[in-house]
Amino acid sequence: VAVDHPPTNFFEVVAEDIQMMNKNLQSMVGEENPILMSSAEHIFGAGGKRMRPSLVFLVSRATTEIVGLKELTKEHRQLAEVIEMIHTASLIHDDVLDESDMRRGKETLHQLYGTRVAVLAGDFIFAQSLQYLANLENFEVIKLIGQVIKDFASGEMTQASSLFDCDVQLDEYLMKSHYKTASLIAASTKGAAIFSGVDSEISDQMYQFGSDLVKGNLTAPVIFALKKEPKLRDIIKSDFCELGSLDEAIDIIKSCGGIDKARELAKLKADLALENLQCLPSTTFRYTLEEMVKYNLERIK
Ligand code: FPP
Ligand code: MG
Ligand code: MG
Repeated sequence: VAVDHPPTNFFEVVAEDIQMMNKNLQSMVGEENPILMSSAEHIFGAGGKRMRPSLVFLVSRATTEIVGLKELTKEHRQLAEVIEMIHTASLIHDDVLDESDMRRGKETLHQLYGTRVAVLAGDFIFAQSLQYLANLENFEVIKLIGQVIKDFASGEMTQASSLFDCDVQLDEYLMKSHYKTASLIAASTKGAAIFSGVDSEISDQMYQFGSDLVKGNLTAPVIFALKKEPKLRDIIKSDFCELGSLDEAIDIIKSCGGIDKARELAKLKADLALENLQCLPSTTFRYTLEEMVKYNLERIK
């Protein structure tokens, strides 16, 4: 799974939106709490790719056109902030669970301040983000995000349990990928469409788009290789935690033709994702979303 050219900067067209969001994020956390205040820069400073809020802005800008809105609303911007806060809180908790020392090139929060602070800081950011979300008074989006947080916990619990046998393991792996990754991304793209006030048909298509965008290349290589190589099951079961295990997994996948089959499935997902974008007017924002799909597909070499 090699990348043979540097990634295009897809998010250039929403760079100003992201800059605005970055400024807000740091002030949104910890105004009332000294520990959070001192770690806000650490938590929300440079380092993250901001993929999720960028998707919020791209879909927001692509859908405002449909309803004749000239600018993004306060709701669009706060959704991007809420999504990034949720993502960040989940990573803080994840680093505690995984006992990871580094994240985004920096020491993790629990490494710096201890587990208790990290767990509570994650809880605080989760709660804070939901309070902001509730203030936007949109039940549909509140329910959508509530589901994501439930999915996070489900995904982590699935991962933590090793009770399932090998055949169930594949299904569990696919579900886990949905819970841990696709769920929040699909909520980002759907939530953005809902705040533009488009018909539910379009917001549902944005959910599918977000989900398909990440799913094809996330799971495909594994699906096909798993059937052939029991060794790979062990590597996946250990969640790639051993040094060099990812490279080993990729070698196994390549050698059993998993990559070819994976490419087919990724193509299928990519076509679905592109189909779901067709409801959008043709703007640079839709074009950028399409380019992201195509880029993802090319990555599976
Ligand atoms: C990263 O996975 C982790 C996630 C995408 C989700 C983590 C979610 C939780 C820990 C549950 C959140 C808690 C509550 C209260 C709902 P990874 O460890 O596979 O990837 P990494 O390499 O980025 O660490
Ligand atoms: Mg982790
Ligand atoms: Mg983890």
